[in-house]
Amino acid sequence: MENNKDSNYYIELEEKHGAHNYHPLPVVLEKGEGVYVWDVEGKKYYDFLSAYSAVNQGHSHPKIVKALTDQAQTLALTSRAFYNNKLGEYEKKITSLFGFDKVLPMNSGAEAVETAVKLARKWSYEVKGIAENAAKIIVCENNFHGRTTTIVSFSNDPDANQNYGPFTPGFIKIPYNDLDALEETLKADAQNIAAFLAEPIQGEAGVYVPDEGFLKGASELCKKYNVLFIADEVQTGIARTGKLIACHHENVQPDILILGKALSGGMYPVSAVLANDNIMNVIKPGQHGSTFGGNPLACAVAVAALDVVEEEKLSERSQELGELFRSEIEKLIHKTDLITAVRGKGLLNAILINDTPESSTAWNLCVALKENGLLAKPTHGNIIRLAPPLVITKDELLDCVNIIEKTVLEFNK
Ligand SMILES: Cc1ncc(COP(=O)(O)O)c(C=O)c1O
Repeated sequence: MENNKDSNYYIELEEKHGAHNYHPLPVVLEKGEGVYVWDVEGKKYYDFLSAYSAVNQGHSHPKIVKALTDQAQTLALTSRAFYNNKLGEYEKKITSLFGFDKVLPMNSGAEAVETAVKLARKWSYEVKGIAENAAKIIVCENNFHGRTTTIVSFSNDPDANQNYGPFTPGFIKIPYNDLDALEETLKADAQNIAAFLAEPIQGEAGVYVPDEGFLKGASELCKKYNVLFIADEVQTGIARTGKLIACHHENVQPDILILGKALSGGMYPVSAVLANDNIMNVIKPGQHGSTFGGNPLACAVAVAALDVVEEEKLSERSQELGELFRSEIEKLIHKTDLITAVRGKGLLNAILINDTPESSTAWNLCVALKENGLLAKPTHGNIIRLAPPLVITKDELLDCVNIIEKTVLEFNK
């Protein structure tokens, strides 16, 4: 703790000087290492949020820290006005790892989603032949793709879009996990539809896992109607669900893949849009970009972060430990009526709390978990997402199951 400044001091500072666009759990973190974080009082916690699945490789992974510090001391930013000696090698690595011809580098997840929307629209006018300004993109109810004006235009969460209009037109919303609705919508107006944009698991909506076959079916329908299938794997990608990307569970290769978060191991904002030449080549010099996108620091960090995923076999770990975690939580469900279900894939999981979304039960349970040394956060009221860094060991995971069990069994609403 720096000069006796305690948690309350830092919380009050944020309250007073920062916009109130978040409602954090009352814990002030100052250090992280692997699966652990420490607060300013020196208390140690398991991190079961991983910065919304950005820290898959664990906090301050030494290999990624080294890449960051070495590159920061050498060259951080050139802009794309010039070539740099890191971008091409990164592009080669990411495209070969994910199986695409090209990558377009950006920074935040939302920017990458915006990029994918622009790319799909441009492809639809210049390759598919849709009449000017007529292109539509199909999206899913309860989606979460970020916070820009266009992205919140197709959200149905009032918190995300209330009083932020007027909105960007050109989006059609259908229920998630509904291939019939997708086919009906495609059939009705295929000639004007550019793309179908979906999360392979809806993370923010509460780790909502679609039926087996949804991704495969959606991708086949898109092919049938000459529509691009865009997978937003900002949260589900980079080994989080037990495969390199969640689409791989159904052997699906999307036409456009969106990555972010753990692409940098949470060390730096790095996002990416991947596609093959027939799609990506519609964007020509000057038609899209970002001052920071593809900078040498981002590229060095992303290469190291992807190396860690491969070297430490994080997909396999996530797959194996996720199964163990869900089976342990299933056992707990038999001992309590506080949790009604556990769901997820790999180490992206959620528990459903037996109360209304408006209740404060899930929040209070997270506060109790914090007291017992585990940090998690409710999403949509009565759902708690549980997503530790993928470097967690089996023993650590079982220790966490014990913490969750103890907390749940002692909990009084
Ligand atoms: C699926 C998905 N897409 C996009 C985003 C937006 O990413 P960012 O917060 O980096 O803009 C998120 C963030 O949670 C996400 O889960």
